[in-house]
Amino acid sequence: MTAPQPLIAGNWKMNGLAASLDEAKAVAAGLEGTTARVAICPSATLIAQMAWALKGTPVLIGGQDCHAEASGAYTGDVAAEQLADAGASLVVLGHSERRAGHGETDALVAAKTRAALRAGLEPIVCVGETLEQRKAGEALAVVTAQVRGSLPPELADNAFSVAYEPVWAIGTGLTPTTPEIEEVHRTIRATLIELFGAAGEAVAILYGGSVKPSNAAEILHADEVGGALVGGASLKAADFLGIIRAV
Ligand code: PGA
Repeated sequence: MTAPQPLIAGNWKMNGLAASLDEAKAVAAGLEGTTARVAICPSATLIAQMAWALKGTPVLIGGQDCHAEASGAYTGDVAAEQLADAGASLVVLGHSERRAGHGETDALVAAKTRAALRAGLEPIVCVGETLEQRKAGEALAVVTAQVRGSLPPELADNAFSVAYEPVWAIGTGLTPTTPEIEEVHRTIRATLIELFGAAGEAVAILYGGSVKPSNAAEILHADEVGGALVGGASLKAADFLGIIRAV
């Protein structure tokens, strides 16, 4: 089976106002020659405006979370159907900031992943160990359990990716060594094949956590790394393009 097309996704987190759309437009304007799929995942408030601003460009737009239900009395939440309606085609699910800050369990992430599929969104499901878990030698077991628990069987017939984001590498400037990244990505690949058979070989496994232009080439060319989920460095078009060009 051929390797999946690399995906470079920018996670803007709770950053960005209407004025930030200029950065998104600058990303779209700088994509000539890239072989990657490129996505920007802004706050829900910006999705419709960004979809309009980037209409006709190859940049995909993603949400950062969704509710498991399609509609209802869930004040403050956003349904996958609403993200799709606003112009999103992907959604990040199970980010460690949601798992830690909002008590999201693997089961909830799996329910949200089903919701994304129901709405026609391509899920990017995040997994990753804490520093304590890595120091205790539990990284592979933790990540494997998260992959098994967060990916529902319905994904078998759909496009999706998995993002390995060690919690201790997010926003810290720290990154695992390349062999450490490869060890986890190979383990995720084996788990994907165990869960989905041959289809598991076609899933892009993204790395996330302090990816920047200066380390992108080494990370993106590591074994079983099929792209990146980029936080801080995705906020500036020049940095994000530097990462995209490293594919
Ligand atoms: P970072 O965030 O690139 O700022 O470390 C990555 C993420 O949380 O997706």
